[in-house]
Amino acid sequence: MLVLGIESSCDETGVALYDRSAGGLLAHGLHSQIEMHQAYGGVVPELASRDHIARTLPLIEQVLRDARRTLADIDVIACTQGPGLAGALLVGGGIAHGLAFALGRPVIGIHHLEGHLLSPLLSHDAPSFPFVALLVSGGHTQLMRVDAVGAYTLLGETVDDAAGEAFDKTAKLLGLSYPGGPALARLAEAGNPAAFKLPRPMLHSGNLDFSFSGLKTSIATQVRKLNEAGMLSEQTRADLASAFEDAITEVLVKKALTALNQEKLKRLVVAGGVGANRKLRERLSQALAPGHANVYFPDLQWCTDNGAMIALAASLRIEAGIEAARPELGFTVKPRWDLASLTPPSPSG
Ligand code: KG4
Ligand code: ZN
Repeated sequence: MLVLGIESSCDETGVALYDRSAGGLLAHGLHSQIEMHQAYGGVVPELASRDHIARTLPLIEQVLRDARRTLADIDVIACTQGPGLAGALLVGGGIAHGLAFALGRPVIGIHHLEGHLLSPLLSHDAPSFPFVALLVSGGHTQLMRVDAVGAYTLLGETVDDAAGEAFDKTAKLLGLSYPGGPALARLAEAGNPAAFKLPRPMLHSGNLDFSFSGLKTSIATQVRKLNEAGMLSEQTRADLASAFEDAITEVLVKKALTALNQEKLKRLVVAGGVGANRKLRERLSQALAPGHANVYFPDLQWCTDNGAMIALAASLRIEAGIEAARPELGFTVKPRWDLASLTPPSPSG
């Protein structure tokens, strides 16, 4: 079953061809809009939608060429149905449904976060079920229990900013350009994490929820004080970045370990853009005793948004019999969509 996956929920157009029986991922293409949005300091939704319109079809043509396939070879078309920017989702959905109609093929709408959390299965060293997933992206921070494809239980989530959002906002306060996460991580390399004492929000909250907006506020306060004193040097900026990264990764690691213990599971999967963060990867790898528990990271290219995870999720959902891809003319997008709602309620209640 050859699946064409289309991702267009935010600022990346991702397209991929995936066929489990033919070795998995056959080809993928990505266009990042980062440069276009940089001038505005963040994603401009209308510009994002227009760019997806311009990029999607050429990327589809490119992956077909790369995989030496034609449109007629495609069995199923998968697109991100949500959550994300409504206009951007409509572009991917419109193209997917238009193509599906023209080709007489079924189409399937995929939850963006399900794509992220299944993305470690794209690697050769894939984890088996069940596992705990730490989903850390620009819009979400959640700990989920994953028992099977389509069986997701929310264990905890952020009550305010997402981890990626906290990285991005803090980076902005430190004068770094969008998207702030990778830039802040680079700046932090030259810093001393002990130079500033920052809060560890909700570290001892007794549950698996997170809060990151206070951390950002405390950086804002430090930046203001240092600015007033004329002491915001390159080194103090690096120190602040490093202290921030230290605080946020400590909370993420501690809560992920608590989730593993609580669920009595030995596999942790990290997914989403912040999963690319080196410090988070190092800390998690150190914290999980080898042989006792294992941590799985998607390859760096699958951490941030991409079409491969959408094609993979569609393939797995169809294979597991959870969903039948349907020929459909009309479609909706779901800019807000709860991942746990994908799990059907158990017959007992
Ligand atoms: O999953 P993703 O590509 O898009 C969403 O679905 O949100 O995640 C993007 C987020 C951004 O906030 C970006 O700053 C963050 O991931 N990010 C990082 C790193 N690379 C990307 N944050 C920290 N360190 C990184 N190396
Ligand atoms: Zn994402």
